[in-house]
Amino acid sequence: MNKPTTSTFLPGELEKLTERQIGKFGTTFILQLYGSLKTIHLHEFHNPAVGKSLEKLYGTLTDLQSKIGDLVLQLVDEYLFLNEIRLPIHAESFMAYDVIASRMKNYRIGGIAFLREIDLEELKKFMYLFLQIDLQSREPFEQLAASLHNHAIGGIRLFRPEEIAKNVRSTPVDIREKAKIAYFRTIFVAKQTARDVLEKETLNVRRVKRAVQPIVDLVLQDEFALLGLMTIQNYDAYTSNHSVNVSVYSIILGQKLGLSKKQLGDLGVTALFHDIGKTEIPNKVLNKPSKLTEEEWRVLQEHPITAAIALVKLKEVSELIVKAMIVGFEHHLNYDLSGYPKLTRQRKQHPFSRIVSIADCFDAMTSSRVYNKPVSPDNALALMLKKSGKTHDPVLLKLFINTIGVYPVGTLVQLNTGELGIVLRTNPREILRPQVKLILDSQGRKLDGEVINLAAQGETFKREIVRVLNPTEYGINVSDLM
Ligand SMILES: [Fe+2]
Ligand SMILES: [Fe+2]
Repeated sequence: MNKPTTSTFLPGELEKLTERQIGKFGTTFILQLYGSLKTIHLHEFHNPAVGKSLEKLYGTLTDLQSKIGDLVLQLVDEYLFLNEIRLPIHAESFMAYDVIASRMKNYRIGGIAFLREIDLEELKKFMYLFLQIDLQSREPFEQLAASLHNHAIGGIRLFRPEEIAKNVRSTPVDIREKAKIAYFRTIFVAKQTARDVLEKETLNVRRVKRAVQPIVDLVLQDEFALLGLMTIQNYDAYTSNHSVNVSVYSIILGQKLGLSKKQLGDLGVTALFHDIGKTEIPNKVLNKPSKLTEEEWRVLQEHPITAAIALVKLKEVSELIVKAMIVGFEHHLNYDLSGYPKLTRQRKQHPFSRIVSIADCFDAMTSSRVYNKPVSPDNALALMLKKSGKTHDPVLLKLFINTIGVYPVGTLVQLNTGELGIVLRTNPREILRPQVKLILDSQGRKLDGEVINLAAQGETFKREIVRVLNPTEYGINVSDLM
C-alpha cells in the first residue's frame, strides 16, 4: 500500500491554503464527518436526513480537495492530521475529534485517504461500512479494507499506523495541545460519569482515574500547561468546566504540598465530583440571575448532603469513593466549620476538602456565569485572603496564592505603557511581575505576541501591570492567543 505522503497524492491547483486555513477547514470536515456518522447510526439508509448530511459532507470534501488535492486524514498517537497539518483542538469540536480519533485507533487505522475521484455514493457506502466494523473483531482494519474492495470503493484508501508518513509521525506535539486533550476529555468524562452516579448508581472509577492521570502528569511536567485553559468561557457547561477546573487547581496545589502521584490522582478525582450533588438541582435555580428565595437557598445548600448520599449508594465501594464522599460533603463546611451543612459533632475538615474548597472558591469567583461577571483573579484572591483562617486554611491559601500568582496564567492585563497582554507564566519570587505576552500596543493595534518577563527588565522596571481586564469585554479569547 502506498504511503500517504503528499507527494503520492494529487495536490490541489487552485489555491494555496495556509496551515491555519487548513486547520479550520479540517475542523469543519471532521465535525461534518462526525455529524454524518451520528445521523447514519440513528437512521435508515434511505432516510432524507442521511442524504442531507452526506451531501453537506461531500460538498466540504470536494471543496477542500479542489484546494489541497487528495485528502488524507491521519492519526498519530491521539492527534488527527489532515495531510501533514495537525488539526487544532477546540472545545466545540473536541467531541467529534475524539470520537473519530478513537474509532480510527480502535480499528487500527493510521490514515484514510479521500481521493479526488470519490463520488457521493462511494462516500455514503464507506460511512456505512465504517460504522459496521465489529469492534470485537481481531482484524478490524482488514475487515474494513476487504469491505471497501468488495464494494469496489476506489475513492478511498486505508493506511495502517506504520504506513503514516515520517514527517507527520515526527511532528512535535506541544504541551498545550496535550493539555487541551486532557482537559476536554476530562470534561466529557466528568459529565458522563456524574450522570451514571445519579441515574445508574454506578461509577467507573477506572475511567475517571484514566482521565485525571494525564492532568496529574501534565501538572508535574509543567504546572502552567493547563492554566490558560481555565479561562475558556462556556456558560452551558459551567458545572462540568467548573469541576475540571477545580480538579486542576487542586492538583496544582497538592503538587506544591508534595503529595505523591497517586495522592494527586485521588485528589483530582475527588475534586471532580465535589459538586455532584448539584446535578439534580434545576438549572433555573443554579443559574438564577436574581437573589435566591429562602427555599431555593435551602435546596442549594443541600448539595453536599446529596453528594454524600449519591456516592454512598454506589454499588462499588473503595477508599477513593469514601474520600470523594467526604470532599462532596465537606467542601462548603469552611475551615472554622461556620459553613454548611451544620455538624452535630465538631471535627476538622479533611485536607482534601480544604484544598478543594480553595480551588472551588477561586474558580467560582473568576468564571463567567450566566448571572454575573467574573471577579478578576487578583480581586478574587484578595477577597479570599480576607477570609483566611475562617473560610480557608491560611497556610494552604498562602501556598495557593504563591503558586497561582496574583496574576494567574491567562489573565488579561493592561501595562503602564498602555499595552495589553496575557499572563503566560508567573514568577513565584516576584508574584506581581509575571511573564506577559503582548497582544495589543498602546494604540490598540494587534501585536504578534512578544513575551516580556516583567521581573527581568534590568535595574529600572519599565513595564508594570496597572489593571486586570475582563477578556469578554474586549472580545478576546485568551486560550486561543496563548
Ligand atoms: Fe459546591
Ligand atoms: Fe463547586
